[in-house]
Amino acid sequence: MSLREKIDLTKLPKHIAIIMDGNGRWAKKRLLPRIIGHTNGVKTVKRIVELARELNIQVLTLYAFSTENWQRPKDEVSGIMTLLKTYLKSELENMIENQVSFRVIGDISKMSAEIQTELKNAIEKTKDMKGLVLNIALNYGSRQEILMACKNLIDKGIKNPTEQDLSDSLYTKGLPDPDLLIRTSGEMRISNFLLWQIAYTEIYITDVLWPDFKDEEFYKAIVEFQKRERRFGKI
Ligand code: FPP
Repeated sequence: MSLREKIDLTKLPKHIAIIMDGNGRWAKKRLLPRIIGHTNGVKTVKRIVELARELNIQVLTLYAFSTENWQRPKDEVSGIMTLLKTYLKSELENMIENQVSFRVIGDISKMSAEIQTELKNAIEKTKDMKGLVLNIALNYGSRQEILMACKNLIDKGIKNPTEQDLSDSLYTKGLPDPDLLIRTSGEMRISNFLLWQIAYTEIYITDVLWPDFKDEEFYKAIVEFQKRERRFGKI
């Protein structure tokens, strides 16, 4: 029985979030520049989006660029931005064709005007799509997001907010919390990603580097998720 056949299609995670780590190490192992690792990382992004669509997953959230990633060498940052631009240009038609709704979480006001235009265009053109919600985290940091949410609540004059009020002030407003968080390349940390939203999320960490995270690895994560017993604090 293949791994794909082992997936119980009635118990799929609604929302999968991924910390895509290991592009640099993938390149280093091959004595290639880091940006080649990111280029191959984008190939994995395309494949995983396709697989998530095929499985009818509702939401896929990918951590592409953190608030801390600006501290990387200038060339690497601009290389990642170019990859993002190329990705948006080459994938927009494909997204529309496949009913993918493209969204961003994070503060994009710090990105270049050109990228902001491309992002807003993709968001606008796919906003009514009924299929997979593809959420890309860009200049995203969870503490910054929670702080922003608190400020929003103050601005709205909500003095005694509920958990729902806070959830509704986050970038992920209206989306279900992730059921499954995948981190590639073995690091055992959350790295300021979706801290509020992952309160009850199952975490799956694999040593596989992001550019190598393809069909079987994705299926393996889902099969593993389906073996877990989720209790949400109950017995
Ligand atoms: C982690 O690898 C990867 C990143 C910080 C950037 C991810 C960006 C992309 C895949 C490209 C742009 C995204 C889209 C959606 C088109 P790392 O560099 O931290 O690897 P290392 O830990 O091995 O050095």
